[in-house]
This record gives sequence, structure tokens and C-alpha cells, in this order.
Amino acid sequence: MTKKRVFSGIQPTGTIHLGNYLGAVKNWVDSQERYENIFCVVNSHAITIKQDPKQLAQKTYELAAMLLACGIDTKKSSLFIQSQIDEHAALAWILDCNIPMGDMSRMTQFKDKSAKNPKNINVGLFNYPALMAADILLYQVDGVPVGEDQKQHLELTRDVAMRFNRDYGECFKIPEALIPKVGARVMGLDNPESKMSKSSSGANHAIFLLDTPEVIMTKFKKATTDSHNTIVFDTTRPGLYNLLSIYEIFTHKSRESIEEEFVGKGYGHLKTAIAEVVIESLRPIRETYKKLMNDQAYIKQILDEGAQKVRPIATSTYNKAKELVGLI
Ligand code: TYM
Repeated sequence: MTKKRVFSGIQPTGTIHLGNYLGAVKNWVDSQERYENIFCVVNSHAITIKQDPKQLAQKTYELAAMLLACGIDTKKSSLFIQSQIDEHAALAWILDCNIPMGDMSRMTQFKDKSAKNPKNINVGLFNYPALMAADILLYQVDGVPVGEDQKQHLELTRDVAMRFNRDYGECFKIPEALIPKVGARVMGLDNPESKMSKSSSGANHAIFLLDTPEVIMTKFKKATTDSHNTIVFDTTRPGLYNLLSIYEIFTHKSRESIEEEFVGKGYGHLKTAIAEVVIESLRPIRETYKKLMNDQAYIKQILDEGAQKVRPIATSTYNKAKELVGLI
């Protein structure tokens, strides 16, 4: 039986945090055996926000090294950089011409990002979901493992693919969003009402994968909770719920056994326990990352091989789309 194929991407816009890891990357790693995997560092998406060109190139290699350190195994998965394959941008144009303004205008991420960057609301930021749809549709995938914040973009991808197939003829496979049951929306430690994000400025907002053990401990200790005195999974207590969900994923324990473990104990005890398990889980990632970053030639080789492997799929889909719309 042939394996189902998945594609996912991540932007090289800063060190990855626990939200990226639990919502996406950890799931990519854990299901590598089950699927045929294509993972991509989406650097062309990153330039929708102003970037320092030299730093962007460096951050792109750093993120690739981080994904390998997290456990992406190139024997099972192809890893490459979006800008290595021109068909991403080329297909995005064809899709752009087939997405109604109204559909694109509804994207909440555009609204959030333009509110955060009022001085640089560019056309690329608006068209961002068309490029994301192209990333996915080029590879004829069954699934797209992402966090919950990408759900709306996935719906737009499915819509444009179905419309295209109907209007021009069969071209794209219709992909499903693969969103984890736990970890799909990790919240900020300082403000559990807002999603953990790379761009938030709060010092205790996010745990970054390269944070030192001391920093991780301090951030968890300062995490916002509430004034109750029971430790239970309760979605109406977002700070506590967020912490317990993080603990659940890293320990693989059941919710019942976690609640039992903390009967009669206070938040201080819980926060230390979570910090310890996160520190130990991230330690090997941090160590492997440092080793990999000493050999950037190796990273470059892996990315070149990844691009070489998947390029024929992208070229074949793009050529078909081009022909169907009458571009010669
Ligand atoms: P990006 O780079 O913002 O995030 C990468 C992945 O991390 C997930 N994520 C989270 N999950 C849980 N809790 C959080 N707080 C959290 N923050 C981020 C995201 O859902 C994502 O899965 N548009 C995408 C990149 C992209 C892409 C694609 C993804 C471009 N093309 C094609 C899939 C397929 C993005 O900005 O992800």
C-alpha cells in the first residue's frame, strides 16, 4: 500500500517556539514513518514582512538545522527551501487569478499581521494565502499537518483547488488539514488569551527551543494562572489549561493521572514539574542543533538533495496547471 503524502511549511522569521513545536514540528517528526513527507522552510512567505536580507539567509539555514535537530529524518522526509523551486511563485500567480477578492479579504491572519505592521501592508502580505495554497497543491498531497491558526488558509486552499478542477479540468488533489487534538493552539505564558507567537514582545510570552534551562524555568514560574486552588483540565481556566496541555504532551500521561498527580499540590509545584520535563525534552534538540550549525555545508547539501527529490512533482503539477489555463 502506498503511503499518504503530507506537506507542511514553517517561516524562518525567528527562533521557533513551543507553539510551532507542539502544533506542527513534533507531529511532523512523530508521523514520519506513517506518511511520505515533504517539509519546507517558506522563506518567500517571510519577506511579506521586512527582513534584513543577510539575516534572512542565515535564519533560513538555522531553521533547517533546527528541524533536523527536532528529528526530521531525511531518509523518511524531504526538506527544502521554498525559493529553491520557482514553481511555488509561478503557481501562486495562476491561483491569484482564480481567488475572489472577497475570499482573500476574509483571511484573519492578514488582518492580524497588517494591524501589527501598519507601515508595511504590502500586496504580498494580502496574497500570502495564494502562495501557501501553491506550496500545498504543487505536491498533490493528502494532508497538511499544521496548528489551528492555519485552518482558514487550508480552507481557502481546498476551495481554490476545487474551483480550479471544476473550471479547467482535474489538476489538484484536495488536501485535508491535519490538526492535533492537543497542542493545536499553544497560548502565551504571560497572556493565555493570546496565541503563543514569535512576534509578541513580552519577555515571558514564549518558550523558545533554544532557551537555556534557567530561562525555561523562570518563564514557567512566571506563567499566568488564576486564583483557584485545584489542578484540573478546565478550559474555562486558560492559563492552567495551557500549562497542563503542555505537560500532557511531553509526559504522554493521561489527563486523569495528571490530575491525580497534582491533588493537594500548588501551582508552584506544577510549574516546576512542567519546566523540568520541557527542559529535559528540549535538551537533546538544543545540543544537536549546535552540532549541526557547525557544518552549514552539510545543511546546504541536505536542502539541495531535498529540492532535487521533490522538484519533478512540482514541475509536473505546474506544467499541467499552465496547460489547463492556456498558458503556452
Ligand atoms: P508559521 O511559520 O507561523 O508556523 C509554523 C507552524 O506552527 C504552528 N503554530 C502553532 N501551533 C500551535 N500553537 C501556536 N501558538 C502556534 N503558532 C504557530 C502553525 O500553525 C504552523 O503549522 N503560513 C504558515 C507557513 C506555511 C505553510 C505552507 C504551512 C506556508 N506555506 C504550506 C503549511 C503548508 C505559517 O505562517 O506558519
